[in-house]
Amino acid sequence: AAPTRYEAENTPAVCSGTIDSNWSGYSSSGFCNGANSTSGYLQFTVNAAAAGTATLGVRFANGTTTARPADLVVNGATVQTPSFEGTGAWATWTTKTLSVPVTAGSNTIRLNPGTAGGLPNIDYLDV
Ligand code: GCU
Repeated sequence: AAPTRYEAENTPAVCSGTIDSNWSGYSSSGFCNGANSTSGYLQFTVNAAAAGTATLGVRFANGTTTARPADLVVNGATVQTPSFEGTGAWATWTTKTLSVPVTAGSNTIRLNPGTAGGLPNIDYLDV
């Protein structure tokens, strides 16, 4: 089935930072600019039709030359630690594909920064 898109700027997502629109190329009305600290998280609540492995598409931009690692936390458990590499510019967006375990129904999918640089700018999550 086609993925469902969860915009970072729309409820029920929670962006611990600001919703910005100053860099072009984002989808819908903006993106999450998480705080540049280890506390600047972004949390999505997504629906899964069935328990199993879900494929996530995280669209992000990182205009620095330093990768920004994160803990990927599903329903409270860290399942992997993806690193969001530099994309060359803040207006250059890339989608990172990740596979995670989900339960049937509602799931929280959260990114917690691994370093004080915080998260990259994040546009949306496709599930
Ligand atoms: C710049 C950029 C922001 C970005 C930030 C960061 O300030 O304009 O969009 O979020 O860097 O380093 O995270």
